[in-house]
Amino acid sequence: MRLYINLDHVATVREARRTDEPDPVRAAVLAELGGAHGITVHLREDRRHIQERDTLLLLQTVRTGVNLELAMEEGILGFALEHKPMQATLVPERREEITTEGGLDISDRERQERASNALGRLRQAGIRSSLFIDPQEAIVQMARELGADAIELHTGEYANARPAERAEQLERLRRAAALGRSVGLAVHAGHGLTYENVRPVAAIKEVEELNIGHSVVSRAVLVGMERAVREMLALAQAAPGTADD
Ligand code: PXP
Repeated sequence: MRLYINLDHVATVREARRTDEPDPVRAAVLAELGGAHGITVHLREDRRHIQERDTLLLLQTVRTGVNLELAMEEGILGFALEHKPMQATLVPERREEITTEGGLDISDRERQERASNALGRLRQAGIRSSLFIDPQEAIVQMARELGADAIELHTGEYANARPAERAEQLERLRRAAALGRSVGLAVHAGHGLTYENVRPVAAIKEVEELNIGHSVVSRAVLVGMERAVREMLALAQAAPGTADD
């Protein structure tokens, strides 16, 4: 199991004062020391947290790999194609949302063509591609047809589910993960995962990468980034049946 740490909210704290601290680049060094397998950032169109400069510095300094989350918007896609993160995850983006609210909508032909075009350009640039999608079997199939290397299953509904509904949401994730692997996609998962709810998702054997941000950054404020990452990594890798590195 690989653990990627999303550092957007380190930049959120900085942007609360429009100053120069805390610095996501320093946080990335500490996350790597804590055992993170990669660093994720979302360069949003409205630049509410991570800035281009952060991304460029991270691309130069991160020793593991950078997973850049991006909307299918020409400007940001062009940035990714030029600067070549190790991995790019296509995500939906709405200005008024507090955080990414659901998986990519690839339900109609126009959106499918846009996604397929973006995935093709990423492939040509040598960037591994991932599509952030809801855990629905038809969408997993479509991700495969569109040519993604990987899918990141949206775990938000699982994370927000009431206790009585959690097993059902977990089952949806399991089915989508099994299908994804069986059609040749790498399977990632993320959104809303915490120290309390991560283990059942980490135990899904097809899931090989987790992307976790808010919970780890929140804990890091109290105990430090290196320790916060180490503690999450221990939970992510302790689960029985986890995919090997
Ligand atoms: N994966 C994706 C695609 C996301 O957009 C986000 C949030 O930016 C995350 C994972 C991390 O979510 P969280 O901050 O809730 O851990």
